[in-house]
Amino acid sequence: MLTLTELQQQALLSLPKDDARLEIDILLARAIGKNTTFLRTWPDYQLNDEQLAQFQRELSQLQQGMPLAYILGERDFWRLSLLVNPSVLIPRPDTECVVEKVLALGQGQQWRVADLGTGSGAIALSLALEHPEWQIIATDISAESLAVAQANALKNNIHQVKFKQGSWLAPLTGLFDCIVSNPPYIANDDPHLSDLQYEPIGALVAADNGLADLRDIVRLSSDFLHKNGWLVLEHGFQQGAAVQTLLKQAGFVNIESGQDLGGNIRYSVGQKC
Ligand SMILES: C[S@@+](CC[C@H](N)C(=O)[O-])C[C@H]1O[C@@H](n2cnc3c(N)ncnc32)[C@H](O)[C@@H]1O
Repeated sequence: MLTLTELQQQALLSLPKDDARLEIDILLARAIGKNTTFLRTWPDYQLNDEQLAQFQRELSQLQQGMPLAYILGERDFWRLSLLVNPSVLIPRPDTECVVEKVLALGQGQQWRVADLGTGSGAIALSLALEHPEWQIIATDISAESLAVAQANALKNNIHQVKFKQGSWLAPLTGLFDCIVSNPPYIANDDPHLSDLQYEPIGALVAADNGLADLRDIVRLSSDFLHKNGWLVLEHGFQQGAAVQTLLKQAGFVNIESGQDLGGNIRYSVGQKC
């Protein structure tokens, strides 16, 4: 029988990645039904057969490159705990900067907002949590994503978001004060795609060097915004200038871009005049 410490050491040798120690500890603690503090207070604890089998199964998934969030089935985002599975993109901390921007623009307002390509519901549900009085509609082309987003609304006791299936703005009716989206924006030959093999390709890749979906959303949004309404778009760190140009060409004003947590330009906004 191996102790927690022995298992930790063995697993570390088999998992050459930066956050290996943290992820192994999370899986060990989960296998024994304790929190990670227990690993330090009881280093000699020995796992029973069932616990060991679970740990080994999940460690092998990590070794194959599966993201920890898919193994655990959840990921924290904003002040929410969101269910995730391989049909949805794992929400990224950088997208919280987009949520912050929408909240700053809409401060003190009674807004109607659309979140296009909602995935797990990360953006729509975070906005709803902060503004229970806002009307929020979340769309996605993927029925599987919408099922996850709806489950996340229930899990987090959020009831005011309406979910609609369809391409970008097609399922929407009426006008909005803000349209926000984190669409696919990775080029199909981007070398980083190989690190994202477990995530749905339809959430990641867009034609035209990653700009096709951003272009469609910019082109279509103006007809769905009130005068002075805002379009807020997450994009890749090298796409700021291109997205600003798209916004200008579509007649938006007060265009600006903002940074993610790493200091990269990762979202742009424009206002309908
Ligand atoms: C980058 S993910 C963003 C998910 C989520 N909003 C987030 O920030 O974590 C892009 C999302 O857009 C959806 N999507 C892709 N093409 C779409 C389309 N034509 N219309 C609507 N949604 C689409 C994908 O299914 C995916 O959920």
